[in-house]
Amino acid sequence: MYQNIILEEKSHVAILTINRPDQLNALNKLTIEELNHALSGLNDNQQIGVVILTGQGEKSFVAGADIKEFAHFSISEGGSLAQNGQNLLFDFIENMNKPVIAAVNGFALGGGLELAMACHMRVASKNAKMGLPEVSLGVIPGYGGTQRLPQLVGRGKANELIFTAGMITSEEALVWGLVNHVVDQTDLLSTCESIAEKIIKHSPNAIRSAIKAVNAGFSEAKNGFHIEIEEFGKCFGNAEFNEGTTAFIEKRKPNFRH
Ligand code: COA
Repeated sequence: MYQNIILEEKSHVAILTINRPDQLNALNKLTIEELNHALSGLNDNQQIGVVILTGQGEKSFVAGADIKEFAHFSISEGGSLAQNGQNLLFDFIENMNKPVIAAVNGFALGGGLELAMACHMRVASKNAKMGLPEVSLGVIPGYGGTQRLPQLVGRGKANELIFTAGMITSEEALVWGLVNHVVDQTDLLSTCESIAEKIIKHSPNAIRSAIKAVNAGFSEAKNGFHIEIEEFGKCFGNAEFNEGTTAFIEKRKPNFRH
């Protein structure tokens, strides 16, 4: 069904693999459209509680936007490239109603690091390298990199990585707080799956509300504390709250997924 991505579903966890290894999984238009299609389906699929996003092969997560595809773009085409990508993929992931974990299995450069940063958390393999090399191409990060990198690591470190077009190792990324864990390549998916296993035990409705509240704190247009109060209140009207509190009182484990 898809040309550039592979979608697998294992009980309540979906694994989405970008599959253009000969091009280091660079994000071209079709790949972004296919990812949007698959992620939209997963967002609506109540059986799925967590999505793991990774790249095919052991060399690259995603080596950026497809440079060959945009090399001859005009000003307006460049603007549309960034706008469409943000709408279809990067903002879409950040605002999904279930967590997306980036399993960073190699190079995460430019749009690749931006993709990992749009996910709700990141786990990297030891060989992974991360950077935003866009200024070396005469352009700037256009898929949210100038915003999400400072949010994750602070402005000074973000400025250095962006202005030098440098690359950091996964161990450095761990110290910076850019990734949550660094593991051997062979343990990458199982580590992500074990985080996912913990998440799927809990209330999908509460997790969706938590994503909204956390994201609101990073939005100019919203007040995170207000959204937290609103989402907290809404949880009281949801059957999962009843199940969670009843299970606690009855000294049993809650069952949020029938
Ligand atoms: N866009 C399009 N194609 C890309 C790509 C990208 N972002 N990154 C890698 N590729 C392609 C290469 O062109 C090459 O294709 P070819 O065999 O048809 O010529 C293939 O992937 C393998 O890459 P190659 O450069 O030969 O591998 P390498 O091991 O020598 O170098 C990198 C690896 C990641 C250092 C190098 O590919 C690179 O610098 N990529 C671009 C990174 C970048 O600037 N990203 C930001 C884009 S905005």
